[in-house]
Amino acid sequence: MTADLASIAGRYDTDKAAHTHYLRNYEHYFGALRDEEVRLLELGVKEGGSLLLWRDYFERGVVVGLDINPVRLDDPTGRIRTYQGAQQDTELLDRVARENAPEGFDIIIDDCAHIGVLARASFWHLFDRHLKSGGVYVVEDWGTGYWGGWVDGVGYKRRAPGFSPALYRLTRAVARLRENSVVGRVPLAASVLSKVKAGVLRAQFRSHDYGMVGFVKELIDELGAADITHPEFGSAPRRESKFREMRLSPSHLFVVKA
Ligand SMILES: C[S@@+](CC[C@H](N)C(=O)[O-])C[C@H]1O[C@@H](n2cnc3c(N)ncnc32)[C@H](O)[C@@H]1O
Repeated sequence: MTADLASIAGRYDTDKAAHTHYLRNYEHYFGALRDEEVRLLELGVKEGGSLLLWRDYFERGVVVGLDINPVRLDDPTGRIRTYQGAQQDTELLDRVARENAPEGFDIIIDDCAHIGVLARASFWHLFDRHLKSGGVYVVEDWGTGYWGGWVDGVGYKRRAPGFSPALYRLTRAVARLRENSVVGRVPLAASVLSKVKAGVLRAQFRSHDYGMVGFVKELIDELGAADITHPEFGSAPRRESKFREMRLSPSHLFVVKA
Protein backbone atom coordinates (compact mmCIF):
# COMPACT_ATOMS: atom_id res chain seq x y z
CA MET A 1 0.00 0.00 0.00
CA THR A 2 1.32 3.47 -0.83
CA ALA A 3 1.93 5.80 2.11
CA ASP A 4 -0.14 8.94 2.47
CA LEU A 5 1.40 12.37 2.41
CA ALA A 6 1.24 12.89 6.19
CA SER A 7 3.20 9.74 6.93
CA ILE A 8 5.81 10.55 4.28
CA ALA A 9 6.10 14.11 5.68
CA GLY A 10 6.79 12.62 9.13
CA ARG A 11 10.01 11.06 7.78
CA TYR A 12 11.62 14.34 6.81
CA ASP A 13 12.59 17.75 8.16
CA THR A 14 9.95 19.97 6.52
CA ASP A 15 7.57 22.45 8.12
CA LYS A 16 4.85 21.07 5.83
CA ALA A 17 4.51 18.21 8.32
CA ALA A 18 3.23 20.61 10.98
CA HIS A 19 0.53 22.17 8.76
CA THR A 20 -2.05 19.45 8.54
CA HIS A 21 -4.40 21.46 6.34
CA TYR A 22 -1.53 22.08 3.87
CA LEU A 23 -1.11 18.31 3.60
CA ARG A 24 -4.88 17.85 3.14
CA ASN A 25 -4.92 20.47 0.37
CA TYR A 26 -1.94 18.82 -1.33
CA GLU A 27 -3.63 15.41 -1.23
CA HIS A 28 -6.75 16.99 -2.76
CA TYR A 29 -4.91 18.57 -5.70
CA PHE A 30 -2.08 16.09 -6.20
CA GLY A 31 -3.76 12.74 -5.45
CA ALA A 32 -4.88 12.22 -9.05
CA LEU A 33 -1.35 12.90 -10.32
CA ARG A 34 0.41 10.55 -7.96
CA ASP A 35 1.28 7.87 -10.52
CA GLU A 36 2.11 10.32 -13.29
CA GLU A 37 5.54 11.44 -14.44
CA VAL A 38 4.98 14.85 -12.91
CA ARG A 39 7.48 17.66 -13.22
CA LEU A 40 7.44 19.60 -9.96
CA LEU A 41 9.36 22.76 -9.08
CA GLU A 42 9.62 24.05 -5.53
CA LEU A 43 11.04 27.50 -4.82
CA GLY A 44 12.62 27.44 -1.35
CA VAL A 45 14.35 24.24 -0.32
CA LYS A 46 16.03 24.84 3.08
CA GLU A 47 17.37 21.41 4.16
CA GLY A 48 15.58 19.67 1.28
CA GLY A 49 12.98 17.83 3.39
CA SER A 50 10.10 18.81 1.12
CA LEU A 51 11.98 17.67 -2.02
CA LEU A 52 12.42 14.24 -0.42
CA LEU A 53 8.74 14.28 0.48
CA TRP A 54 7.69 15.00 -3.15
CA ARG A 55 10.16 12.43 -4.47
CA ASP A 56 8.59 9.70 -2.32
CA TYR A 57 5.02 10.82 -3.02
CA PHE A 58 5.43 11.02 -6.81
CA GLU A 59 7.31 7.78 -7.44
CA ARG A 60 7.70 8.57 -11.15
CA GLY A 61 8.16 12.32 -10.78
CA VAL A 62 11.08 14.67 -11.33
CA VAL A 63 11.47 17.07 -8.41
CA VAL A 64 13.35 20.33 -8.90
CA GLY A 65 14.29 22.72 -6.11
CA LEU A 66 15.73 26.22 -6.11
CA ASP A 67 17.18 28.10 -3.16
CA ILE A 68 19.34 31.15 -2.59
CA ASN A 69 21.57 28.99 -0.36
CA PRO A 70 23.49 25.93 -1.50
CA VAL A 71 21.60 22.66 -1.10
CA ARG A 72 23.23 19.30 -0.59
CA LEU A 73 20.94 16.30 -0.81
CA ASP A 74 21.63 12.62 -0.79
CA ASP A 75 19.31 11.24 -3.47
CA PRO A 76 20.22 7.83 -4.89
CA THR A 77 17.18 7.90 -7.22
CA GLY A 78 18.59 10.81 -9.25
CA ARG A 79 15.06 12.23 -9.53
CA ILE A 80 15.84 15.33 -7.44
CA ARG A 81 17.64 18.24 -9.07
CA THR A 82 18.63 21.42 -7.25
CA TYR A 83 19.70 24.89 -8.27
CA GLN A 84 21.17 27.77 -6.32
CA GLY A 85 19.81 31.25 -7.03
CA ALA A 86 17.11 33.80 -6.35
CA GLN A 87 13.43 33.18 -6.97
CA GLN A 88 13.17 36.52 -8.79
CA ASP A 89 16.01 35.70 -11.22
CA THR A 90 13.89 35.12 -14.32
CA GLU A 91 16.84 34.05 -16.49
CA LEU A 92 17.65 31.31 -14.00
CA LEU A 93 13.97 30.29 -13.91
CA ASP A 94 14.04 29.98 -17.72
CA ARG A 95 17.13 27.77 -17.50
CA VAL A 96 15.62 25.58 -14.80
CA ALA A 97 12.51 25.11 -16.95
CA ARG A 98 14.50 24.46 -20.15
CA GLU A 99 16.62 21.80 -18.44
CA ASN A 100 13.84 20.03 -16.55
CA ALA A 101 10.43 20.74 -18.00
CA PRO A 102 10.64 21.97 -21.60
CA GLU A 103 6.91 21.13 -21.98
CA GLY A 104 6.11 23.02 -18.77
CA PHE A 105 5.84 22.04 -15.10
CA ASP A 106 2.73 20.26 -13.77
CA ILE A 107 3.20 21.72 -10.30
CA ILE A 108 5.05 24.78 -8.99
CA ILE A 109 5.22 25.55 -5.27
CA ASP A 110 6.45 28.86 -3.86
CA ASP A 111 7.67 28.25 -0.30
CA CYS A 112 10.47 30.76 -0.62
CA ALA A 113 11.05 34.31 0.61
CA HIS A 114 7.35 35.04 1.36
CA ILE A 115 7.90 38.62 0.21
CA GLY A 116 5.14 40.00 -2.00
CA VAL A 117 7.15 41.59 -4.82
CA LEU A 118 9.43 38.52 -5.11
CA ALA A 119 6.51 36.07 -5.09
CA ARG A 120 4.79 38.17 -7.75
CA ALA A 121 7.90 38.25 -9.97
CA SER A 122 8.33 34.49 -9.94
CA PHE A 123 4.60 33.81 -10.15
CA TRP A 124 3.92 35.70 -13.36
CA HIS A 125 7.13 34.60 -15.05
CA LEU A 126 6.62 30.92 -14.27
CA PHE A 127 2.84 30.90 -14.61
CA ASP A 128 2.80 32.47 -18.06
CA ARG A 129 5.81 30.67 -19.54
CA HIS A 130 6.55 27.46 -17.66
CA LEU A 131 3.35 26.01 -16.18
CA LYS A 132 1.26 23.60 -18.26
CA SER A 133 -2.39 24.33 -18.95
CA GLY A 134 -4.27 22.58 -16.12
CA GLY A 135 -1.09 22.81 -14.00
CA VAL A 136 -1.21 23.93 -10.37
CA TYR A 137 0.69 26.86 -8.82
CA VAL A 138 0.80 26.88 -5.02
CA VAL A 139 1.79 29.74 -2.75
CA GLU A 140 2.53 28.92 0.87
CA ASP A 141 2.42 31.26 3.87
CA TRP A 142 0.76 34.26 2.25
CA GLY A 143 -0.39 35.41 5.70
CA THR A 144 3.06 36.98 6.38
CA GLY A 145 1.60 40.22 4.96
CA TYR A 146 -0.37 40.56 8.25
CA TRP A 147 2.76 40.44 10.42
CA GLY A 148 4.17 43.81 11.43
CA GLY A 149 7.55 42.21 12.18
CA TRP A 150 7.87 40.62 8.72
CA VAL A 151 10.00 42.32 5.99
CA ASP A 152 6.97 43.56 4.04
CA GLY A 153 4.17 42.83 6.51
CA VAL A 154 2.05 45.39 8.35
CA GLY A 155 -0.01 44.68 11.47
CA TYR A 156 -3.70 44.31 10.67
CA LYS A 157 -6.06 46.98 12.01
CA ARG A 158 -9.44 45.57 12.82
CA ARG A 159 -12.49 47.66 11.98
CA ALA A 160 -16.07 46.86 12.96
CA PRO A 161 -17.95 45.93 9.78
CA GLY A 162 -20.76 48.41 10.41
CA PHE A 163 -23.33 49.69 7.92
CA SER A 164 -23.67 53.44 7.37
CA PRO A 165 -27.06 54.41 5.89
CA ALA A 166 -25.70 57.90 5.04
CA LEU A 167 -22.77 56.52 3.01
CA TYR A 168 -25.08 54.05 1.31
CA ARG A 169 -27.49 56.86 0.33
CA LEU A 170 -24.54 58.89 -0.98
CA THR A 171 -23.37 55.93 -3.11
CA ARG A 172 -26.87 55.56 -4.62
CA ALA A 173 -27.14 59.31 -5.28
CA VAL A 174 -23.77 59.44 -7.08
CA ALA A 175 -24.66 56.36 -9.15
CA ARG A 176 -28.01 57.95 -10.16
CA LEU A 177 -26.25 61.17 -11.20
CA ARG A 178 -23.79 59.17 -13.34
CA GLU A 179 -26.67 57.38 -15.05
CA ASN A 180 -28.39 60.72 -15.75
CA SER A 181 -28.25 61.16 -19.53
CA VAL A 182 -27.36 64.88 -19.35
CA VAL A 183 -24.56 64.54 -16.76
CA GLY A 184 -23.36 61.30 -18.34
CA ARG A 185 -22.74 63.05 -21.65
CA VAL A 186 -20.34 65.60 -20.11
CA PRO A 187 -16.98 63.74 -19.96
CA LEU A 188 -15.51 65.88 -17.17
CA ALA A 189 -18.62 65.50 -14.99
CA ALA A 190 -18.70 61.73 -15.52
CA SER A 191 -15.03 61.43 -14.61
CA VAL A 192 -15.40 63.58 -11.45
CA LEU A 193 -18.43 61.51 -10.39
CA SER A 194 -16.48 58.28 -10.91
CA LYS A 195 -13.76 59.60 -8.62
CA VAL A 196 -16.28 60.70 -5.98
CA LYS A 197 -17.95 57.29 -6.14
CA ALA A 198 -14.61 55.49 -5.74
CA GLY A 199 -13.78 57.74 -2.76
CA VAL A 200 -17.12 57.07 -1.05
CA LEU A 201 -16.75 53.31 -1.63
CA ARG A 202 -13.16 53.33 -0.38
CA ALA A 203 -14.48 54.60 2.94
CA GLN A 204 -16.77 51.56 3.21
CA PHE A 205 -14.24 48.74 2.80
CA ARG A 206 -10.71 48.71 4.04
CA SER A 207 -8.31 46.52 2.13
CA HIS A 208 -5.10 45.32 3.73
CA ASP A 209 -2.81 45.30 0.68
CA TYR A 210 0.62 44.69 2.17
CA GLY A 211 3.25 42.18 1.15
CA MET A 212 2.00 38.70 0.32
CA VAL A 213 -1.58 39.71 1.14
CA GLY A 214 -1.41 42.47 -1.48
CA PHE A 215 -0.02 39.96 -3.98
CA VAL A 216 -2.88 37.52 -3.31
CA LYS A 217 -5.41 40.32 -3.76
CA GLU A 218 -3.87 41.14 -7.15
CA LEU A 219 -4.43 37.51 -8.10
CA ILE A 220 -8.11 37.94 -7.25
CA ASP A 221 -8.17 40.73 -9.85
CA GLU A 222 -6.84 38.26 -12.44
CA LEU A 223 -9.63 35.90 -11.44
CA GLY A 224 -12.03 38.77 -12.21
CA ALA A 225 -10.68 39.37 -15.74
CA ALA A 226 -13.92 38.42 -17.50
CA ASP A 227 -15.86 40.94 -15.39
CA ILE A 228 -13.15 43.61 -15.67
CA THR A 229 -13.43 43.33 -19.47
CA HIS A 230 -17.21 42.71 -19.56
CA PRO A 231 -18.57 44.06 -22.88
CA GLU A 232 -21.29 46.14 -21.22
CA PHE A 233 -19.96 46.97 -17.75
CA GLY A 234 -16.18 46.63 -18.09
CA SER A 235 -13.49 47.91 -20.39
CA ALA A 236 -12.03 46.38 -23.56
CA PRO A 237 -10.27 44.29 -24.73
CA ARG A 238 -12.45 41.38 -23.65
CA ARG A 239 -10.67 38.38 -22.17
CA GLU A 240 -11.21 35.45 -19.83
CA SER A 241 -9.15 34.91 -16.70
CA LYS A 242 -5.91 32.99 -17.06
CA PHE A 243 -7.05 31.06 -13.97
CA ARG A 244 -9.43 28.12 -14.17
CA GLU A 245 -9.71 28.14 -10.41
CA MET A 246 -8.19 29.84 -7.41
CA ARG A 247 -8.64 28.34 -3.98
CA LEU A 248 -7.66 30.08 -0.77
CA SER A 249 -7.27 28.53 2.62
CA PRO A 250 -5.46 29.92 5.66
CA SER A 251 -2.02 30.95 4.38
CA HIS A 252 -2.23 28.46 1.48
CA LEU A 253 -3.22 29.34 -2.09
CA PHE A 254 -3.83 27.16 -5.15
CA VAL A 255 -4.23 28.46 -8.70
CA VAL A 256 -5.11 26.10 -11.56
CA LYS A 257 -4.06 27.40 -14.97
CA ALA A 258 -6.82 27.64 -17.60
C1 LIG B 1 10.45 28.10 4.38
S1 LIG B 1 12.03 27.69 3.78
C2 LIG B 1 11.70 26.37 2.65
C3 LIG B 1 11.17 25.17 3.32
C4 LIG B 1 11.00 23.94 2.42
N1 LIG B 1 10.23 24.25 1.24
C5 LIG B 1 10.30 22.85 3.20
O1 LIG B 1 9.07 22.69 3.08
O2 LIG B 1 10.99 22.14 3.93
C6 LIG B 1 12.39 29.05 2.75
C7 LIG B 1 13.66 28.94 1.94
O3 LIG B 1 13.64 29.99 0.98
C8 LIG B 1 14.97 30.43 0.75
N2 LIG B 1 14.93 31.80 0.19
C9 LIG B 1 14.62 32.95 0.82
N3 LIG B 1 14.62 33.98 -0.04
C10 LIG B 1 14.91 33.46 -1.25
C11 LIG B 1 15.01 34.02 -2.57
N4 LIG B 1 14.81 35.31 -2.80
N5 LIG B 1 15.32 33.19 -3.59
C12 LIG B 1 15.54 31.86 -3.37
N6 LIG B 1 15.44 31.28 -2.14
C13 LIG B 1 15.12 32.07 -1.10
C14 LIG B 1 15.64 30.32 2.11
O4 LIG B 1 17.04 30.15 1.95
C15 LIG B 1 14.96 29.09 2.71
O5 LIG B 1 15.74 27.94 2.56
